[in-house]
Amino acid sequence: MQRPRLYYDLAYLWPILDPPEDFIEEAGFWKAVLSKKLGAGIHPILELGVGAGHLLSHLASEFEATAVDISPQMISLSRKLNPQVEHIVGDMRSVRVGRRYKAVLIHDAVSYLLSETDISKTLETAAAHLCNGGLLIMCPDWYRETFHGIYETDRISMKDGTSIFLEQRVSDEDPQDTLIETSFKLTFGENGHQQTIEDIHVTGLFSLETWLTLMDKMNFDAEALPYPVYDDNEPGYLLVGSLR
Ligand SMILES: C[S@@+](CC[C@H](N)C(=O)[O-])C[C@H]1O[C@@H](n2cnc3c(N)ncnc32)[C@H](O)[C@@H]1O
Repeated sequence: MQRPRLYYDLAYLWPILDPPEDFIEEAGFWKAVLSKKLGAGIHPILELGVGAGHLLSHLASEFEATAVDISPQMISLSRKLNPQVEHIVGDMRSVRVGRRYKAVLIHDAVSYLLSETDISKTLETAAAHLCNGGLLIMCPDWYRETFHGIYETDRISMKDGTSIFLEQRVSDEDPQDTLIETSFKLTFGENGHQQTIEDIHVTGLFSLETWLTLMDKMNFDAEALPYPVYDDNEPGYLLVGSLR
């Protein structure tokens, strides 16, 4: 399976495609859950799959954060945006930072877990980094219940002389497996030179019940909170677990 170019050689396009300001509403939701469950204080938190650190940029001043991502290019974008945060290159299925946190956050990066084994390994990572009663928050892009076979959208983004036309198509080639495929067709240009590339991202698709059952097996009291933050009013759920 090919690595997504948007997280490696084309990572510099990510802040133009999905800029930090687009995460304000989502971050407000995460902050509300964190403060309700953890109470007041500057708590230590760990984000796995931090990407370019766009969600984290709205949380970093209120927590003491550590961030992990598998891509050195994404880590370097997040480090630039969140200089006060400790950054580590690592795989969420196996990384061990060597300390414990009040909360582990995995935003949309959790969508890149392709099998129940991947999910269980990542839950084990989360549990290994949490204090007793610690909080895990995760946000897959899609669930079996919310994905209807095909999803298409497009948009134009522009910044500092670079414009990108994105055509995004999510499809489920084989409804019997746990995988869906997102095609990012990007037409972008700098200084009048245009090119079009297609970047394919394979992600996982699981039911809410599968997520909640695997969390329970890994000793989390788990719930799915309605997450009404998507532009097109698509339903979403935030998975929240407390380590028993
Ligand atoms: C959509 S981006 C995350 C964007 C992020 N939510 C933000 O606010 O900027 C998904 C990220 O997941 C990371 N990722 C995918 N699989 C991973 C894994 N097994 N371990 C750690 N990071 C992973 C990718 O490298 C990518 O940076």
